[in-house]
Amino acid sequence: MGVKKIFSGVQPTGNLHLGNYIGAIKNFVDLQNENNDCIFCVVDLHAVTVKQDPKILKKNIRETAATFLACGINPKKSIIFNQSSVPAHSELSWYLSCVARMGWLNRMTQFKEKAGKDREKASVGLYIYPVLMAADILLYDATHVPVGEDQKQHLELARDISKKFNTDFEAPDFFKIPEPLIQKSFARIMSLKDGTKKMSKSDPSDLSRINLTDTDSEMVNKIKKAKTDTNLFPTDTYSLKSRPEIENLIGIYSSLKEKKIEDSLNDFKDQNFSFFKEELSDLIVEKISPISKEIKKIKEEKGYIDQVLRDGSDKANEISSKKIRDIKKKFGF
Ligand code: TYM
Repeated sequence: MGVKKIFSGVQPTGNLHLGNYIGAIKNFVDLQNENNDCIFCVVDLHAVTVKQDPKILKKNIRETAATFLACGINPKKSIIFNQSSVPAHSELSWYLSCVARMGWLNRMTQFKEKAGKDREKASVGLYIYPVLMAADILLYDATHVPVGEDQKQHLELARDISKKFNTDFEAPDFFKIPEPLIQKSFARIMSLKDGTKKMSKSDPSDLSRINLTDTDSEMVNKIKKAKTDTNLFPTDTYSLKSRPEIENLIGIYSSLKEKKIEDSLNDFKDQNFSFFKEELSDLIVEKISPISKEIKKIKEEKGYIDQVLRDGSDKANEISSKKIRDIKKKFGF
């Protein structure tokens, strides 16, 4: 297979967690190490679709970049930058908002979830958030976009916008039709407290997620307190369907061990949950603790992080400004 053009983004809204790692960032690193052309973006313009404290946002932008670096994204191989330092994202977002249809945006389930009951009070930015996401991807002619399951609908919208632009402007292939790269098995890591809810930065309970900055004892404690049930340890995948919390914990184990679910179930045949939980927390500590320590170390090196982001922005600006020039010609500007 040839080299893929990869683009993906993560919001700097604090509390990056095991779901972000397993669903997205771990794959970023694998794709980079397979020598694809990779661009990873701290999507700070997406973050301001809900109100942010400027000082905390600034800190979170650095922390998200530090997390990329700590997880193994190498600025010598991949472009790392923050979205607001590349004006082409906002500009293309406007052009594409004139191509996207209201009906398409009205179907976006994440907007409905995030806006809640009082939709009239949600920001316009939150509503057109997926158009900015399409702009991020199409600007760099990305062919593949690694994301967790929750971003699938937004990716489909980006594909629709790309096709409509190419048709409207009679420019086949002007924008690529990006392929989502969503893992088959572990694309949706769930809350440790409720296996029907996704693990999320915004869950008020810190016990619901393993943060990538947690200490070893916090990780162990969270797994100890993770919800299970009183039934015996499952022996087959079929019985997991009605036991979402157990399915999630075994999914986390399998993903970090890079094993099939069936094989993990086999590892714990005839064992009890407390034994499984001990093994799981050891595994999480083994994989996440080095990342957590590295994040803390890199976070102190503000000058280094800012330099990485500046270098990345320079490269991103160079690529995207050429594309914007071509897009403006298409519109007749
Ligand atoms: P964000 O910041 O919410 O999440 C970053 C990435 O983590 C994945 N993810 C999860 N995967 C598995 N289980 C979970 N519980 C879980 N929670 C989050 C997300 O799917 C995502 O891949 N809109 C995007 C950011 C974005 C973007 C883009 C992504 C902006 N522009 C262009 C790709 C391409 C978002 O809010 O992700």
